[in-house]
Amino acid sequence: MTDVTGAPADVLHTLFHSDQGGHEQVVLCQDRATGLKAVIAIHSTALGPALGGTRFYPYASEAEAVADALNLARGMSYKNAMAGLDHGGGKAVIIGDPDIVKSEELLLAYGRFVASLGGRYVTACDVGTYVADMDVVARECRWTTGRSPENGGAGDSSVLTAFGVYQGMRASAQHLWGDPSLRGRLVGIAGVGKVGHHLVRHLREDGAEVVITDVREDAVRRILATHPDGGVTAVADTAALIRTEGLDIYAPCALGGALSDDTLPVLTAKVVCGAANNQLAHPGVEKDLADRGILYAPDYVVNAGGVIQVADELHGFDFERARAKAAKIYDTTLAIFARAKSDGIPPAAAADRIAEQRMAEARRSR
Ligand SMILES: NC(=O)c1ccc[n+]([C@@H]2O[C@H](COP(=O)([O-])OP(=O)(O)OC[C@H]3O[C@@H](n4cnc5c(N)ncnc54)[C@H](O)[C@@H]3O)[C@@H](O)[C@H]2O)c1
Repeated sequence: MTDVTGAPADVLHTLFHSDQGGHEQVVLCQDRATGLKAVIAIHSTALGPALGGTRFYPYASEAEAVADALNLARGMSYKNAMAGLDHGGGKAVIIGDPDIVKSEELLLAYGRFVASLGGRYVTACDVGTYVADMDVVARECRWTTGRSPENGGAGDSSVLTAFGVYQGMRASAQHLWGDPSLRGRLVGIAGVGKVGHHLVRHLREDGAEVVITDVREDAVRRILATHPDGGVTAVADTAALIRTEGLDIYAPCALGGALSDDTLPVLTAKVVCGAANNQLAHPGVEKDLADRGILYAPDYVVNAGGVIQVADELHGFDFERARAKAAKIYDTTLAIFARAKSDGIPPAAAADRIAEQRMAEARRSR
């Protein structure tokens, strides 16, 4: 059974009745002149205006797009709460192949829809949208961030994302080995794109040895050429990377689902801390990690540097102020490990608990 939007009834059931739902508002947007079809999902404004990027993706169905928007918006509530931002969670998806349907007119039409929400939702870049696109959206909508520095924006958010992941690694080292320094540690990075290549630099500056892999040979070549001192080596693929002997930390920085029933048994690292979203392939993996004695720094906590960067832009971007806030990911990660220990739960569950507490307190104080 489907409703008039093509969204199956189970999506609406998720929205109104399940634990995964509870969203405040979902907006379906259409502009036939430009071909725009978008879904804006606002999960929570308990901590402030919902903040989250716009994903532009050729979804197999409109129902899949709605489900993705709901899921991503909910994730942003938790991420923003743990990042200490005064923002709730929201996300938008534009349905279609950006290479085919993206146009200036479509982005302007999208900007008008976001503007119509009057600041309840603040948008930014995500998969399929870029800084240049946000510059266009911003012409119609003042609640746009992730713009170019020439337009008063923070630019590429991967700079502070990598810095935040590095802080998460330092906290993991402190928790596990009693010293935040990564000197002499062996760190494996799967995916050396925008975030991964900055992460290599932080790690080398701290004296860590790094092993990398990427499906793109040019990405690997670029890193090896930038670090010719022998401190960075490459392996063929992620399967080889996670089996590397003596690996201290594994950093998934490519796609989601890196931690699964297949990868856990062969993982040699004692810590997992990386930028990729949704690293746990399914619920329960966080417990399997803990049972195997692997310390997991929750993905949405350590990769929040990017959202911290774009949130700062709303106050007139100040890189040093944003960097200082991203540095707090170190303390936040340590606090999660402490809570996990005291409550006897995995760190991922501890992070969720702390985020839910912060949102509940904000709701009560209203
Ligand atoms: N950029 C940000 O600010 C930011 C913020 C939060 C989370 N993230 C997440 O971090 C991850 C990396 O983001 P990015 O901006 O660096 O993306 P990116 O596309 O620039 O880099 C990803 C890299 O991973 C490589 N890759 C893809 N599949 C792979 C595989 N199977 N094995 C090895 N390498 C593979 C790609 O070739 C690419 O070089 C993504 O999951 C993203 O969602 C990014």
